[in-house]
Amino acid sequence: MLSKIHYAKPSITEREVAYAADAARNGWAEHCFDYIHKFRDLLKDYLGVPHVIPTSSCTGALHLGLAALGIGPGDEVILPDITWIASAAPVTYLGATPVFVDVLEDSWCIDPAAIEAAITSQTKAIIIVHIYGNLCDMDAIMAIGKKHGLPVIEDAAEALGSVYKGKKAGAIGDMATFSFHGTKTVTTGEGGALVVRSDALFDKISILESHGRDPRVPKQFWCEQIGYKYKMPNIAAAIGAAQMERIDELVARKREIFKEYVAQLGGIADLRFNPEPEGAYNSYWMSTVVFGKTIPFVREDLISDFKKGNIDARVFFYPLSMMPPFEKCPQNKISYGLYDRGMNLPSYHDLTKDDISRVCGVIKNYLAKSRNPS
Ligand SMILES: Cc1ncc(COP(=O)(O)O)c(C=O)c1O
Repeated sequence: MLSKIHYAKPSITEREVAYAADAARNGWAEHCFDYIHKFRDLLKDYLGVPHVIPTSSCTGALHLGLAALGIGPGDEVILPDITWIASAAPVTYLGATPVFVDVLEDSWCIDPAAIEAAITSQTKAIIIVHIYGNLCDMDAIMAIGKKHGLPVIEDAAEALGSVYKGKKAGAIGDMATFSFHGTKTVTTGEGGALVVRSDALFDKISILESHGRDPRVPKQFWCEQIGYKYKMPNIAAAIGAAQMERIDELVARKREIFKEYVAQLGGIADLRFNPEPEGAYNSYWMSTVVFGKTIPFVREDLISDFKKGNIDARVFFYPLSMMPPFEKCPQNKISYGLYDRGMNLPSYHDLTKDDISRVCGVIKNYLAKSRNPS
């Protein structure tokens, strides 16, 4: 039996184990925030941003951020149709409406022209998603946000380490969120972070994230308003701090893996990979391939071949508007034409060259079969 190749898994060393053990032994009472603060400061320095609020998930970070912006019933928030549902669900938690727009064929990220076309008097924010590590066209998006007075939230859940024209993903928009789920480049097990530029919004979030307690009000257990509880645990932050100390190594390994896939599969006509246009540095959270329309391709058949090879396959995200909670948006033609031709390839740090060859072998055999059916 061939060994299992997972699609994602963190890189855990003695450093993560030692920090977690230290947090478990000593991280209580007056030390209960030590690793949370360490993790926060490492992330803040890495991104070069004024404020970072560690959270228990990226979903929670988005919920907090949108609440701080005052998003509520009757409001619309524009976001890409191709993303994970966590980008949209917090919009609905607040009673607002997600408005799904199309993505671009080359980056799989939100189309700035589609954002502009979807703006109405009800629009209150724009959420953009750097999908699989690929970068959105931030110059165009920030210009649209400025022109219409709309805050831009970068959902950078999948893009820690990507860089757009010298600026880190998550350090460009008015707000940004990250995920540190166990599948991500940097993990805390479960976890997230909210990044915010404005001091005024940061003050609002500091109250909202603590069940409505204002840190400037000295009365214990006194709540000024209804807030939220999305805090990152100290033990999780200990793992995250160790990971952040290794961030350059972790991102570099993702890039090596991507390059190996391109080396082995790059010769296949009409097969597209995560792009890295001029001015971009892609952290390639998930090495991804999209099979062009000239390739006879049925996603489920390739998934079945991967399964036979004991390889975990991960499908490209469905357009969110295709799923039951939302209204269909078939006008998002690129999203609807893209999802079932894309596949995330196993991308975890400890993947070996032989593992990558096994994955590529399955793809090559599949393509040979699909082009010459017997
Ligand atoms: C684009 C995107 N946004 C948000 C999230 C939510 O992250 P979390 O699971 O930490 O809430 C994810 C998680 O995978 C994601 O991929």
